[in-house]
Amino acid sequence: MHIGKTLISERRIRRRVRELGAQITSSYLNQDLTLIGVLNGSVCFMADLMREISLPVEVIFIRLSSYEGTWPGEISAGTDFNFDVAGRHVLIVEDIVDTGSTVKFIETKLSDLGATTVEICTLLDKPSLRVHQTRIRYIGFQIPDEFVVGYGLDYDGLYRNLRHVAILEE
Ligand code: IMP
Ligand code: MG
Repeated sequence: MHIGKTLISERRIRRRVRELGAQITSSYLNQDLTLIGVLNGSVCFMADLMREISLPVEVIFIRLSSYEGTWPGEISAGTDFNFDVAGRHVLIVEDIVDTGSTVKFIETKLSDLGATTVEICTLLDKPSLRVHQTRIRYIGFQIPDEFVVGYGLDYDGLYRNLRHVAILEE
């Protein structure tokens, strides 16, 4: 496996993240907003996005584990879902939404904790493999059904530190 064609350049990512930050800022004016990042994939996106949001936001990271060998990816919490989001607006920050099972799982958990609203912001949207229908409020880029790496996304733990998003090739 190796890094192939650039799908989204560093420059396009930067420009789009700035736009998303501005959009989020104007949507949540005067509201209590908590950003919830899903580790490890959202690390680059969250770091950049939160600095483009001009509001006093709370930032929390969670970790999920998915059992291997099951399909479509059974998920369990690797973090205790015991943080206080009751009465707050919550925005889930994800690297990519693929089948949608990850965001579906988190959405349900957060609603159970009494969040006022739960919305999703994802850098990448891969709609072709969607199993769980979820409404995504903020999408950085829609991408085709390719396996991509970089800017937080990994293949076998590698390539998260690329500044751009690239297609992984055999
Ligand atoms: P979902 O639960 O199927 O939506 O999958 C979401 C997770 O699968 C993401 O958070 C990623 O960790 C991983 N994933 C899905 N597609 C890709 C990809 O193209 N590159 C790297 N990771 C991916
Ligand atoms: Mg992820």
